[in-house]
Amino acid sequence: MPEGYPYQQIIGSCLADGIGEHGLSRAAYEAALAETAGALQGLRARHDDGGLPLLRLPETRDDLPGIEARAEYHRERADDVVILGTGGSSLGGQALYALTDAGFGPSGHAPRLHFLDNVDPHTFDHLFRAVDLAKTDFIAISKSGSTAETMTQFLICLAAVVETVGRERAADHFTVITEPKDSVLRRIAEEWGMLVLDHDPGIGGRYAALSLVGLLPAAIAGLDVAHIRDGAHQVLHQTLSARRPEASDPAVGAAVGIGLWREKGIGTSVLMPYSDRLGWFGMWYRQLWAESLGKDGKGTLPVRALGTTDQHSQVQLYLAGPRDKMFTVVLTDCAGRGRMVPPELASDPSLAYLAGRQMGDLFDAEGRATAETLVRHGRPTRLIHVDRVDEAVMGGLMMHWFLETIIAAHLLKVDPFDQPAVEEGKILTREHLGKMPRRA
Ligand code: PA5
Repeated sequence: MPEGYPYQQIIGSCLADGIGEHGLSRAAYEAALAETAGALQGLRARHDDGGLPLLRLPETRDDLPGIEARAEYHRERADDVVILGTGGSSLGGQALYALTDAGFGPSGHAPRLHFLDNVDPHTFDHLFRAVDLAKTDFIAISKSGSTAETMTQFLICLAAVVETVGRERAADHFTVITEPKDSVLRRIAEEWGMLVLDHDPGIGGRYAALSLVGLLPAAIAGLDVAHIRDGAHQVLHQTLSARRPEASDPAVGAAVGIGLWREKGIGTSVLMPYSDRLGWFGMWYRQLWAESLGKDGKGTLPVRALGTTDQHSQVQLYLAGPRDKMFTVVLTDCAGRGRMVPPELASDPSLAYLAGRQMGDLFDAEGRATAETLVRHGRPTRLIHVDRVDEAVMGGLMMHWFLETIIAAHLLKVDPFDQPAVEEGKILTREHLGKMPRRA
């Protein structure tokens, strides 16, 4: 791993050479890897001609002052900032925000962020009881500007803010992110005089985490957004400059995952970070992978697990259940970190192994033990090592999975950028709503 590179990927324990008969044969791996060459060529071409704006974001800096200025506006005004939106309009921001908020509020003097990506009325009742709306701002994000959930959230929040601060001042509480085209969200936001920022039409919802969609919430939370792009840039650069597919970590990852699916019928891909700060990253990955690849009867099921928590929930199945899963265990360099188990309180001989150890020692040992046990059971296991969890590492991991997803789609011969099946449910929802009585 070059100095400062965001992570190290090790795939030896996915291959038959590493774990025996249940691993991917070298021949199948090499065949899948060779096939990724076409995807890499396509990525290079689309980077050069600007055809895939996602690939230009990591090197872009001129949009950051605007993002930071708007973030500062909300940081100065608000105690709480509510992010409205769903799917790709929410999960990237949530993954980034988890870097700074472990559930007790953000570090530093940032407002608390709340990502509301559902329309459960109970949650919104709680929200309105929990925050002071006069000191609460809203970021409404919808690429299409028409998603039913987001429109419902937006209009209900707008009404609540009007009730609290009055019609004149309500718009000050909102920033709207949507495509620069006519949409109902844009029309309403503009009528009210809200600030509307453009969602790049060339960047799909779930590919938008490195754009203002993820970076505005991140900047409000006080994260270094340039650093997020720096990490993404390092990973993208590795892939774009790879002369052979084996020099691209995302190509290697895609070849292993799709190779295992083809050769061994392994249809589930478990991502298990040993880091609470990467817990939401796992949820982000789940959506990216599922919505991009689940097409034409193809695709693998992404599962997010969390170490150590899921050792006490899922790992029995992972070790001894059906051989239908591959694992990606993300290990952080956490040995020697955190508070110590005080030896004087842990003098009972049964606690000798813990006495004087730091919490990070246990976290580290458990992560490595889980990975090793999976390997011993002949379960294909990829390791991702990170030496820290910060903005650059997160940006790097996000870019890795953007690329791995696009390359996997090439191997599966599906379009990673559409989601036709989801549309059916949206149409049916409108039909059901049409039949329900209005209570106004
Ligand atoms: O990744 C996607 O394209 C989807 O998950 C969308 O982000 C999600 O449906 C929300 O769409 P929109 O941003 O248009 O409201």
